[in-house]
Amino acid sequence: MTRIAVFGAGRIGTVHAANVAAHPDLELAAIVDPVAAAAEALAAATDAPCGEAAEVFADSNVAGVVIASATDTHAALLERAAEAGKAIFCEKPISLDFATAERVVAVVERAGVACMLGFHRRYDPNFKAVRDRIASGAAGPVEQIIMFTRDPAPPPIDYVRVSGGMFRDQAIHDFDMARYLLDEDIATVYAVASCLIDPVIGESGDVDSLAAIMTTISGKIVQLSNARRAPFGYDQRLEALCAKEWLAVDNAPQTTVRRADAAGFLAPPPENYFIERFARAYAAEIDAFARMIRAGEPPLAGLRDGLAAQLLAEAALHSATTGATVNLAEGWRPRSSGL
Ligand SMILES: NC(=O)c1ccc[n+]([C@@H]2O[C@H](COP(=O)([O-])OP(=O)(O)OC[C@H]3O[C@@H](n4cnc5c(N)ncnc54)[C@H](O)[C@@H]3O)[C@@H](O)[C@H]2O)c1
Repeated sequence: MTRIAVFGAGRIGTVHAANVAAHPDLELAAIVDPVAAAAEALAAATDAPCGEAAEVFADSNVAGVVIASATDTHAALLERAAEAGKAIFCEKPISLDFATAERVVAVVERAGVACMLGFHRRYDPNFKAVRDRIASGAAGPVEQIIMFTRDPAPPPIDYVRVSGGMFRDQAIHDFDMARYLLDEDIATVYAVASCLIDPVIGESGDVDSLAAIMTTISGKIVQLSNARRAPFGYDQRLEALCAKEWLAVDNAPQTTVRRADAAGFLAPPPENYFIERFARAYAAEIDAFARMIRAGEPPLAGLRDGLAAQLLAEAALHSATTGATVNLAEGWRPRSSGL
């Protein structure tokens, strides 16, 4: 059995720990979280011990770590895990600011440890089917992509404060999906952002509503619309308009039951949130982590993908802050951490 420790016993750490515990080739070696109550509850639920970071990094019987802790802890944990020679599965984003993210990538690469990043949508069978269809050539070249990512309700404000902001925290999945589907680099990024949903988010320096439009080197167009609230629940959809086909991923309904009467038709709501909607993708990610460690199989998303998606997030944030279109093709680099 390959022994794995999970850092972070919050929303996503709970999902990853359960998938590690359920995996036939993996053993959940420890749950690490400075909030003892959170660590103990998850340890009890997964039948695993609680652990301390220093013990885990020093334990040669721990082969890998899942970094599912708060975003402001990722960079330091990535560096410590790499220096300890552990295989790593780290949640997005790599860091709160780009310069740190670049430094961390260099440290991990120098250490030579295997590392994958938590872009779970790449493991979702629906998004993967769109990618595979495009890659097969059958749909013809992609001309436009439109993505929608809207949470059912804003996350807790304590989460928002350490999240790196909505561009790096939420929209980063869409920036990564654009890269996953396109076969050429994004050249320009224009974005706008507002606080329309919860003034407390605005007071914390973040936004809760954003849109971005990007073009590739040859002029392919990508649009995204993100919000921290949708009136009907979790909204996560995508369209890829190709020369020969239109490909779309819809929301997954909670049931397939529809009701109708003389007033009209009623469809069931979508899956509640990311945990339910992407349950299969999260399990597939942990399976990919196991195969990366045991067989050296490359993951669908690595650290360099994390850096590239974060560069797009930084460009979009810069655009939303300044009103300018960012030209990545001309070598734009982020200077400050922004929002
Ligand atoms: N890929 C996805 O679908 C997805 C979904 C949600 C969150 N995330 C990412 O996962 C991370 C955690 O998000 P969450 O929603 O679970 O947040 P959360 O606030 O629910 O949980 C974070 C946990 O990390 C713990 N923590 C803080 N410092 C720590 C440290 N040094 N070591 C170990 N644990 C520590 C906190 O005590 C808390 O229990 C964030 O970076 C977020 O961006 C990814």
